[in-house]
Amino acid sequence: MAKYRICSIEGDGIGHEVIPATRRLLDAAGFSAEYVDAEAGYEYYLDHGTSVPQATYDAVENTDATLFGAATSPTGEKPPGFSGAIRHLRQKYGLYANVRPTKTRPVPGAYENVDLVIVRENTQGLYVEQERRYGDVAIADTVITGEASLRIGKYAAELAMKRGKRLTVVHKANVLPVTQGLFLNTILDHTRSVEGLNTSTMIVDNAAMQLVRNPRQFDVMVMTNMFGDILSDLAAGLVGGLGIAASGNVGDKFGIFESVHGSAPDIAGQGVSNPTATMLAAVLMLDELGDHETARRIDNAVNKVLTEGPRTRDLGGTAGTKEFTDAVIAAL
Ligand code: NAI
Ligand code: MG
Repeated sequence: MAKYRICSIEGDGIGHEVIPATRRLLDAAGFSAEYVDAEAGYEYYLDHGTSVPQATYDAVENTDATLFGAATSPTGEKPPGFSGAIRHLRQKYGLYANVRPTKTRPVPGAYENVDLVIVRENTQGLYVEQERRYGDVAIADTVITGEASLRIGKYAAELAMKRGKRLTVVHKANVLPVTQGLFLNTILDHTRSVEGLNTSTMIVDNAAMQLVRNPRQFDVMVMTNMFGDILSDLAAGLVGGLGIAASGNVGDKFGIFESVHGSAPDIAGQGVSNPTATMLAAVLMLDELGDHETARRIDNAVNKVLTEGPRTRDLGGTAGTKEFTDAVIAAL
């Protein structure tokens, strides 16, 4: 009998390519899992009028972890009954920490020796999606609670203590002292009591510049939802781009592991997407489940192929999804 039960959601666009590639790799690596396939996303919404069906809730709740591809959120006015699948799942399951490691990989153009983690608050801020319009005026709410700020601050501080013991709280409390101030001060109140932790603060716009100028100064960075969304893509750009950036959405009970990238409609269906980000998301999942041995084997195999090729197009190579995946499997 398989040791783990994994919910597998392809979602939209290149999710249909990167999830099967990652599943093939997991099987080849001998990861002992039984998969429950589930659906979510915009394509499912167009056919069924909802973006996340009940069967998917059941699958997420009755498995040990979920592997997620990508989901489309169409730009413009929201169709009736539509909600962004991954944002919805993050909120429904209280997956309050979005953990996005940025580590130098052996790919052309990557900054050297970068090893930082962005911890993004995953349930609040501007992404509560409470928007309205009065004629020419459009308003979006931003919601910050002390409870959620403390929860994410504790998570980030604990992670920093396991790593380089440095935490940077990124904020914009100079302009938004009520909302951003609550986030910042709640976390600082907590970190003062964490012995041995070196905590600093940085205003978000400066943090964007500092990430580009000297990303090696950072260890763990914690921030509100939208800042984390934006800066984690920026950070991914430092070390090889979205094709290799992985993330975990974790809460007290469930974990959903996914790439940082989206459904990439510009390349979907062509078989050229880079599955590395999803493979590395699977590595995060394996570590969370405790299968560190398989995690290291996959991580090493991915690094070997990133070093020696073949590489996918986003990294300057010519390999398609399948050729790259075959090479990683061969490198196991
Ligand atoms: P995107 O991340 O899908 O793509 C941005 C660029 O990176 C594109 O040029 C794409 O071709 C490239 N790219 C992304 N992943 C790649 C991969 N694995 N291999 C090679 N190239 C890759 O962002 P975009 O285009 O802004 O958004 C597309 C859709 O995805 C939107 O509907 C958006 O709402 C959604 N989205 C979903 C996310 C999620 O499910 N977690 C995250 C970000 C966007
Ligand atoms: Mg994003």
